[in-house]
Amino acid sequence: MTDISQKPHARAASGDMPPEEFRRHAHAVVDWMADYLANVGEYPVLAQVQPGEVAARLPASAPEAGEGVEEILRDFRDVVVPGVTHWNHPDFFAYFAITGSGPGILGEMLSAALNTNAMLWRTGPAQTELEERTLDWLRQLMGLPEGFHGTIQDTASISTLVAIAAAREAAGLGVREEGMSGRDLPRLRVYASQEVHSSIDKAGITLGIGMAGTRKIPTDAEFRMDPAALEAAIVEDRAAGVHPLCVVATVGTTSTTSIDPVAAIADVCERHGVWLHVDAAYGGSAALVPELRHVLDGAERADSLVVNPHKWMFVPVDCSVLYSRRPEIIRRAFSLVPEYLITPEGASVTNLMDYGPALGKRFRALKLWMVLRYFGAEGMAARIREHVRLAKQLAAWVDAEPGWETMAPVPLSLVVFRHAPAGMDGEAADAHNERIMAAVNATGRAFLSHTRIRGRLALRLAIGNLRTTEAHVRAAWELLRETAASMHASA
Ligand SMILES: Cc1ncc(COP(=O)(O)O)c(C=O)c1O
Repeated sequence: MTDISQKPHARAASGDMPPEEFRRHAHAVVDWMADYLANVGEYPVLAQVQPGEVAARLPASAPEAGEGVEEILRDFRDVVVPGVTHWNHPDFFAYFAITGSGPGILGEMLSAALNTNAMLWRTGPAQTELEERTLDWLRQLMGLPEGFHGTIQDTASISTLVAIAAAREAAGLGVREEGMSGRDLPRLRVYASQEVHSSIDKAGITLGIGMAGTRKIPTDAEFRMDPAALEAAIVEDRAAGVHPLCVVATVGTTSTTSIDPVAAIADVCERHGVWLHVDAAYGGSAALVPELRHVLDGAERADSLVVNPHKWMFVPVDCSVLYSRRPEIIRRAFSLVPEYLITPEGASVTNLMDYGPALGKRFRALKLWMVLRYFGAEGMAARIREHVRLAKQLAAWVDAEPGWETMAPVPLSLVVFRHAPAGMDGEAADAHNERIMAAVNATGRAFLSHTRIRGRLALRLAIGNLRTTEAHVRAAWELLRETAASMHASA
């Protein structure tokens, strides 16, 4: 039997890891992290494991006696790391590429050490005030006017959920008090384009609006919401006794990064008294680049807007920002103060628990603050600008290559394209591109994802990782071309 008295952490019958032991292991962990970040490109980007393989290497139950950190870290290296898909990899091009940047990771480490929970101002004065100040910096960097108040949520899905709950509160239907069922309520409707992210439907599911409560508005040739069709839908719904609640305009849709005409949509919302929420989860970051700030034209008239620093602002997951011009409505929807949370500061301070369904609130602002300070406004803009340049470069290569085609405009840093050589179309082309993607992803040298554009399968190559250079994009493109050519030849 193991003599646990010999293990350093077992010296005390209770209590935490001794500080000197923590220091030693923390140094080793940081060394590992620095090496990892330096060499992340050496790993296969997509984990080369089968479902269940990692679980099979983990014991079925927790250890009875404590174990040493060396042993735990050995399993981290040998069992966990091989099962990791490396989002920090320069050849990660799937979904929306992201970065756990150096300053962001440092912020994350410090927030774990402080372990604050700013549900109330007094349980996190610095956290509360740093969050408000940092989000005001970001508001200015994005060109949003004064009056937009920000709070950090975990994800865009939750930010949007909070925004639609606020829209429901603003409608004055008494849902907070009376709920949605067992009484006479009109059908509530949320409007969004056919390209909208599934998180809007999920918010509808969660808020009792239902999937049928979200009406998808047609888009134009460039996948942007048609404001005239939106207005017609609202008028038709109203005439049928439906209550139009909220319009979600997207700046940077998931499939193609199309940008809805927010100003024209804001006109419609104002005419009909409907809450406007802008989903700029991905595309909002582009507004940090002065010459791209126009992506948010019209958003200054939104009631709420979400942007995700954990997408294209180099902040480690998770960190989503919900801005609103009507924070008092969010508070009206969510503030609920039981006796045990009453404080002497009362309403003279911001209590972050009032801005969403969660009570507890971790210190996410620290990593965003450190990223913005370390890179500065110019550094953020330069990096995002470069990603847009790389995407346009790739799109030019694709369009110049016989047999290949881009399938949507490239306003930001995503290229949507496919291999469709002469004589191949329809389902055959879909299956061919699916095979190309699977073969490329299996190499571990690049990781792409896909979407469907007007029913046809398309490859998505998203650029957003700080370590990605033109050489990485070129290598991925060469790999795609070679793979497609060899598959086509052997078909
Ligand atoms: C446009 C858009 N909105 C919302 C989301 C959801 O983001 P999150 O994972 O933060 O909930 C995504 C995710 O990619 C997205 O692309």
